[in-house]
Amino acid sequence: MTELNKIVLKIISNNKGILAADESTGTMTKRLDSVGVKSSPKTRLKFRETLFSSDGMKSFIGGVILYDETIKQKTSSGITIPELINKTGALTGIKVDTGAKILSGSPNEKITEGLDGLRERLQEYYRLGARFTKWRAVYSISKSTPTKLSIISNAHALARYSSLVQEAKMVPIVEPELLMDGDHGIEKCYEVTSEILKNCYEQLNLFNVDLSGTILKPNMILPGKKHKEKASTEQIAKLTINCLKENVPSTVPGIAFLSGGQTELEATKNLNTINKVNDTKFIMTFSYGRALQQSALKFWSKNQEDFENTKKIFNHRSKMNSLSVKAEWSEATESKTAA
Ligand code: 13P
Repeated sequence: MTELNKIVLKIISNNKGILAADESTGTMTKRLDSVGVKSSPKTRLKFRETLFSSDGMKSFIGGVILYDETIKQKTSSGITIPELINKTGALTGIKVDTGAKILSGSPNEKITEGLDGLRERLQEYYRLGARFTKWRAVYSISKSTPTKLSIISNAHALARYSSLVQEAKMVPIVEPELLMDGDHGIEKCYEVTSEILKNCYEQLNLFNVDLSGTILKPNMILPGKKHKEKASTEQIAKLTINCLKENVPSTVPGIAFLSGGQTELEATKNLNTINKVNDTKFIMTFSYGRALQQSALKFWSKNQEDFENTKKIFNHRSKMNSLSVKAEWSEATESKTAA
């Protein structure tokens, strides 16, 4: 077993998942604005520190993805955030892309940037305690998108990023996210996600990335948000697994889904059904942002000194998702352990 593979397993084994707390300052400001909290380095730290100090971290969270601001911050008791995370037994991750920008050549699409100077930034993040990283590529479905240009150029960037990250002895999370926006059906999502994944693995292989030292963070296969029909959780699970089976090499140890605008309950339920019918060797877990934080953020915004109950809400969500990794979640477990 390689060192990188050991890191992967430390993050996603034992029914643990990943907390994606790596919202850029712009995104976090939008999230805080939506609940009426003024965004500042202090408020962003206060909320995040509360989550990272929760009991649920020890049992249910194997890794936390941070943003550049947070990895350099200290807690109220004076230790660094990576130290706080390490104390819980989880590993520290860091978002290293610098965001999705307009793709020249196809201005309605995005290309993720951040390769310039990445080798040097990775060394700094390693020194600060990071052992894994994230890079998110984003694609959307419309009459004319995603184009081959966006699929190839984003796959190429993900592969260049992954290769540099492994050179720096860290595990890359490869995140190609096909957005849920649109009125397309679930089959279209399946078809486009397949094309995206196929291209990603072509490029990762070209760059000699050791796939056993990577984690894939994909979207589930879902109908567009504005599609006329909802899909059943069984259909979502079956198509998601088939798509991954067809397009992801079996040397990839684990898949940690993004929640991508699903509600907390949808994200938990779908992951549970995926694990019920999972007939692959992939570990299937979560790397949720909104679906782990939404309720906790809402409560905290109105009770900013009530750390204990904020933590309880986060513990509950983490536990529910960990139960889903074991396929042991049900509506009943939601109410039994509700905060
Ligand atoms: P969501 O789970 O809110 O989609 O966030 C996951 C993530 O890290 C997106 O890059």
